[in-house]
Amino acid sequence: MSEWVKACGIQKLGKGELFSFDYHDKKLLLTNFKGTIYATDRICTHAEADLSNGILTEEGITCPLHLSIFNLETGMPQNAPAEKPLRTYNVKIEQNEIYVEVV
Ligand code: FES
Repeated sequence: MSEWVKACGIQKLGKGELFSFDYHDKKLLLTNFKGTIYATDRICTHAEADLSNGILTEEGITCPLHLSIFNLETGMPQNAPAEKPLRTYNVKIEQNEIYVEVV
């Protein structure tokens, strides 16, 4: 079962910016990547670094610990050492608020 959760106002997530939020036990990351908003898990699948401390590059979000880069649309790592994808979530914008479909 899924639920649409209000994350933040669209004004908090300018182009190239990240926004962290928690919902129950989930640690989530919103990213404005090239003008599109993506939602993923925030904790790296390799060794649990917090991706909100990472850097956005042309390819996605770069983990601050061992530098794996994750594609924000698919969650797939683009390079080692991470092997497992990040979970990704649907996003919608209504009345200038960003909602994430948490499953
Ligand atoms: S903790 Fe992210 S690549 Fe190792």
